Parts: sequence; C-alpha cells; structure tokens
Amino acid sequence: PADLNDLAKKAGKMYFGTAVDNPQLDDKQYTDIAFNKAVFGQVTPANGQKYMYTERSRGTYSFVEGDAVVDKATAAGQLLRCHALLWYQQLPNWLTTGNFDNATLITIVQEHITAEVQHYKGKCYAWDVVNEALNEDGTMRKNVFLDTIGPSYIPIAFAAAAAADPDVKLYYNDYNIENPGAKSTGAANIVKDLQARKIKVDGVGMQAHFIAGSSPSYDSQLQNMKNFIALGVEVAYTELDVRITLPNSAEKTQQQATDYANAVKACVVTEKCVGITVWDFWDPASWVPSTFKGTGDATLFSAGFEAKPAVASIAQVL
Ligand code: XIL
Repeated sequence: PADLNDLAKKAGKMYFGTAVDNPQLDDKQYTDIAFNKAVFGQVTPANGQKYMYTERSRGTYSFVEGDAVVDKATAAGQLLRCHALLWYQQLPNWLTTGNFDNATLITIVQEHITAEVQHYKGKCYAWDVVNEALNEDGTMRKNVFLDTIGPSYIPIAFAAAAAADPDVKLYYNDYNIENPGAKSTGAANIVKDLQARKIKVDGVGMQAHFIAGSSPSYDSQLQNMKNFIALGVEVAYTELDVRITLPNSAEKTQQQATDYANAVKACVVTEKCVGITVWDFWDPASWVPSTFKGTGDATLFSAGFEAKPAVASIAQVL
C-alpha cells in the first residue's frame, strides 16, 4: 500500500490515520497494514472506548477493548485519537433506563469522563469529548443528557475532560458539518459557548461520512474549515469514508476517488487542519453496509486488500 502517513507528514500534516475495531485485531493481513506507521500514523479505536464498553455497570470501569487497540497503536509509534466520551448511541442500559435526576446524571457523567480520561492520560493526542450533539438544523439533538441535564451537559463534559488531563486536545465531533450550513453553525456555536465560559476546547472533528457523487465541494470544505479556524480552534477529518450506492461501477469508483482526494486536499491546504482519519480502510470492516442499506464499498481497500483508485488519488494530493 502507498505510504499515506509518510506522504501526509511531508505535506505538513500531523498524520493520516484510520479507525481500527477489535474483531480485526486477529487478522494478520489487516494488522500488518493498520499498524504500519508509514501507511497510518494515527489510529482511532472504532468502538472499544465507548460508554457501553467502558462502564458496563455504574462505577465499574473496563478498558480492555479500548486498550487492545491502543496498546498496538502505541507499540507501533502511532498517534491516537480517542473516541468518544459522550455520545447518545452505544450507551449502557443502566444509564438510559436509570431515570436519574439532574444532579445524579451530572455526577455520573463527570465520574465517567474522569475515569476514562485518567486511564488514557498521556496516550491520546485528542479526545472526542462530545459526539453528535446536533440535529441537522443546528439545534441540540434530543438525548438522555439533554433531557436530564439540559444543554449544559456539553460544558460539563469538556470541563471534566480538561480537569482529568490538561494536555490532551479536546474536540467536538459530528457529521454533516463538512460544509457551511445550519449544522456547521451549530458546531461553531458549541465552540463559542465553551470559549465564553472559559472552558478548554481545541478542535472540531468533521466526521465526513460522504456519498460518492454527493460529497461537499472542495471549495465549500475550504470555506467551512476557515469558519471553524476563525474561532481559534484546529480541525480534523475524523471518520472519512465515501460510500457507494450499489451496484458499484468503474465510474462510481472513480467518483469515489475524486471525493476522497477533495477532502484530503482541502485538509492539506488548510494549515490548521491537523490530519485525516478514515473510518476503517478495509471494506469488510466498514460500518457502512449494515447502517446504510443498499450502499457499500466505502473504504480504500477491497475485501481482497486490493487498493482502490482512491488510494492513488489521495497519494497524489498529499
Ligand atoms: C460506528 C462503528 O463503526 C460501528 O462498528 C458501531 O456498530 C457503531 O458505531 N459516527 C461515529 C462512530 O462517531 O463512533 C460510529 O462508529 C460511526 C458514526
């Protein structure tokens, strides 16, 4: 495979990285690529650090799944983006069904974030502190945290993360915030609100789950990043993939290559865009087919580990 991380570093970025999930850790063909620092200089655990795996019952923490990925990445000398402290999905049942009152849920959230950030202290380049808190119109998405705590759950989460590790970068992360619009403005408002409260926030993560042929234009991606950076934060592409409406064709695969390259190039020319992470690099490991029915082939490598045209198109803009 092309040495995408080596190329990204030469282009002035901190990393080109990938998500890695636990089931793939036993696949040598997969791990030889995933933990090759020349190809991927950064890893994000795809699931293991999420709430349902790390606090299966209240106050009982386990970091086994997350550590399995983190330890391999650390041994390979790769950076880690750690993901995610607070998200409305993949929560443990005790939390969603507990009917906790305001003060109790605040304590629960603070204790969870403190325990997890402390466990990974010194290992993560960045934490996605709050993930997907917004509706498409830029208003706050309904979830157990908003229902019980109110919108202040976001500053509470960032403050707890900052207190547990003052050195790790703290990100707000979401999808459909890769071009200007109501949702991007909502993300900017989250950043501004944290700054107004003097709570540490370092970056905005743009997930970038794109659809071949309907991805945001190169120019709108540039403008969008400018808007975030004007607030004094860095940005990153955190979960880039470009799914295809099946059946695939040579033309669609070429469009996918163009869409991948546009996002990567937009990051490359934007100084405060620190890096690009793909949400896995191997089609059989991708979350896409099970989540978006009728789509697939979203990653850089086919089931047979053959590099798709997107690998060359990315290498070209790096
Ligand atoms: C996905 C994982 O890839 C799947 O394995 C899991 O079943 C669901 O979550 N946005 C995010 C990621 O922030 O955490 C999600 O990851 C994909 C969408």
